Parts: sequence; C-alpha cells; structure tokens
Amino acid sequence: HGTSQINGQGHLQIGGCDTMELAAQFGTPLYVMDEALIRQRCREFVQAFRASGLSFQVAYASKAFCVMAMCRLVEEEGLSLDVVSDGELHTALQAGFPPERIHFHGNNKTPYEIEMALDAGIGCFVVDNFTELHLLNAIAADHKKCARILLRLTPGVEAHTHEYITTGQEDSKFGFNMNNGSAFRAVEEASKLPHIDLLGIHSHIGSQIFEVEGFKLAGEKMIGFATRVRSELGVTFKVVNLGGGFGIRYVEGDTPLPVGDYVKAITENILSHFTSHDYPVPEIWIEPGRSIVGDSGTTLYTVGSTKDIPGVRKYVAVDGGMTDNPRPALYQSQYEAMLANRARDKDEETVSIAGKCCESGDMLIWDVSLPKVNPGDLLAVASTGAYNYAMASNYNRIRRPAVVFVKDGQADVIVKRESYEDITGNDVIPARLCKEA
Ligand code: LLP
Repeated sequence: HGTSQINGQGHLQIGGCDTMELAAQFGTPLYVMDEALIRQRCREFVQAFRASGLSFQVAYASKAFCVMAMCRLVEEEGLSLDVVSDGELHTALQAGFPPERIHFHGNNKTPYEIEMALDAGIGCFVVDNFTELHLLNAIAADHKKCARILLRLTPGVEAHTHEYITTGQEDSKFGFNMNNGSAFRAVEEASKLPHIDLLGIHSHIGSQIFEVEGFKLAGEKMIGFATRVRSELGVTFKVVNLGGGFGIRYVEGDTPLPVGDYVKAITENILSHFTSHDYPVPEIWIEPGRSIVGDSGTTLYTVGSTKDIPGVRKYVAVDGGMTDNPRPALYQSQYEAMLANRARDKDEETVSIAGKCCESGDMLIWDVSLPKVNPGDLLAVASTGAYNYAMASNYNRIRRPAVVFVKDGQADVIVKRESYEDITGNDVIPARLCKEA
C-alpha cells in the first residue's frame, strides 16, 4: 500500500527508496515514513469534510507521532494540531506551527503548561475537569486574557477496542460525565466564568475503532446535549469535537474503512439531526492520530541471533524490540512483517520475532510466516508509524532509532539516531562518587 512496492532486486522499496540502501545509509533499527501516504491521509480527511459542506477542523493528534518535521507537514496540509503536554506544545511552537491552530488536551494540565499555552496564544484548551476549569480561569485572569475552551465530555459510548485504550466509558479519568449532571454543571459554570470563552464540547470514544456506529452514537449524544443546554441554559455551542480513534490495518482481518467514509458517516448523521432544529449547525472537529500516520510507518531491523527449539518454535531476534515498539508488550498488538531483502522468496517457515531487551515479554510478533531467515537479513515490520517512536524508551539504555521521511526516491532524516551523549548526557555523578584524579 502507499508507495511501498517490491523492486527488481526483490527488495522492499518505500517512497522510491530501496530499504536495503536505507538500512546501509542510516543503520537499523530505522523508522521509515512514507511521506506521500501521510499527506494522502491528511487530504482524505479534509476532502471528505469539504464534500459535506460543514465548517470543520481536522486536528492531528500529535501524541501518535510528534516531531518537528511532522508538525511542519501537518501545517502544510492545513490541519490543526492537538497537543497534550508542554513537550508536544514546545515541539509544535519550535516547528513554527501557528498557535491559533493548536488545541491543548490532557486531564492534568499543570499551571505551568496552562501559562505556556496562554502566552503562546493557542486556539483552545480542551478542559477536562472542574479543577482545571477554575485554574484556567484564574490563570487567564492573571494574564488579562480570555481562554477559549471546549469541555471534554464522557458520552458513555463504549467502543469495540482493546480495553487499555478505551477512554469513552463512564468510569474513566477523562472528562465530565454526561449521564450524572456533571457535564451540564460544567457548562453552567464555564459560561459564567469571566475569563473563559466556551466554544463547545468534545468527546473521544476510544482508539483503533472500525465501526462508524460508535462515532454516530457519540455525535447524537453530543447534539442531544447541545440542544438541551441551549433550551435550558441559553448557551449555544459553536463547536462539536468528536475526537479521534479511526482504526487502521495492522494485520489481515483488520477491516478499517477508508478514512473519508468515517467522516462521511459522521457528517451526514450530524446534518440529518440539524435539519429538524433551528440550531445553528456547529463546526465539526475531529482529532485523528493513528489514522494519519500509522500505516505510513515501517520499521527496518537487522536479524541477528536465531534459536530453534525443534518441534516448539524458532525465535528470530532483531536489533530492536520493545524499546522502539512497546505496543505488542503493552497491548498484545499484532503486526505483520516481511523480509525486505528477499521479498519474493517463497521457502517459508513460521518464526517468532524477538527483540533484544532483557526480558521474555520483549516479543514483536508471534508465529509469522517468512522466507527462511538468516542473520543479516533485513526485516520490515509494517504499520509502525503511530505510537511507536512516540512511546519508544531507552530501556536497557538502548538508543532510540532514527526516523526518515521518504518520498520520490529521496530520504531525509527527521529524527537523528540517539547518541551515547543522549544516553549519559543527563547523568550526574555527585562529587563524593567521583574517581580520585
Ligand atoms: N483525541 C484524544 C482526546 C485522544 O485521547 C486520542 C488518543 C486521540 C484524539 C487520537 O486517537 P487515535 O486517532 O490515534 O486513535 N498508545 C495507544 C493509543 C492511545 C490513544 C490515546 N488517545 C496505542 O498505541 O494504541
């Protein structure tokens, strides 16, 4: 998919670049991102919204993959940006991302983060709870500013996805509950606070969702709520944000819709509910993360040791693992792989791909069928663009890999491989532990 293909030498090629050459030039592990495919996903979202005629914002949820080059790309594509920490905000601002198109999320924004975002003049805060609402009002007052906000609501819609990454249920640390009066009270309070400009409401029902029903249901609940608030409080929302969560294909059997189809279903459903009201149709905002970058990423690894336990299993170890992709260990996520240097070979065997970390849970893929694998082979794991680099760690003091954008035969490093200085640079040896000179 995307610009991936197998070239004349039987090598996997992405963005016109031979992965063997990428590995030789930049080393492995290496995250390779198909720039054209990221742009295509951005455009699919935008075009589907344009077709609906609704006012909209597509905010890329930068938590999926937040580096400066990515912020630049997203800006070029006309998207907004969702950040959840001072670090993500800093990255966006350093990349010159227009602050008015930045939305600040999170269930525990610190006073410092709030000040930083207010000073930068960001587009809006997505307020998560009463503590934050009042803190934001107070800090905005100090700064003689008015903070634009959305209120994050918990619509109680349960998305069919992995338990650990479901965030839309009632019993959740996120948002104001819709079903116990707390969301209503939040609107009442927010609309009275002098340094708060309440733009609208937000919901996010989960991640890696394939069905449109969850989004439609959440949309309906949000509209129902908006209608009630208007008649009982006289407050009209300009914005309804339905969050992210659109699924992608990781392995065979995953059946996401084309991203435009999710947007179409959502917008048509929203519009159908507004023809019958005199409610001014709000802007619809969404926040896709995974579906923008997930399937654009491929991780290249060099195969090292193998261990054959006859009649049981063959382990094939690669030069990365849970440090560059913690998702299998965290969520039992599944991935597909291929041999990038012998993509057409057919003499297949079933192997399990192990990482190099010192723990048994560091497995990337169980039971994958590959051409007979030898040390030195180049393994490509697909759909690693989202929540891989973003969640990478230095466990075992392993340096984080480099990331390259590939496009039209050109490869550009967008994140350098970490150096040893990155590993020990923040370590401090107190004087009493220093070696005598
Ligand atoms: N908006 C909000 C408020 C969110 O909490 C999230 C993701 C998104 C948007 C973007 O969701 P997406 O379109 O990427 O599904 N680390 C996990 C995923 C955690 C998602 C958390 N929130 C994983 O690797 O699967």
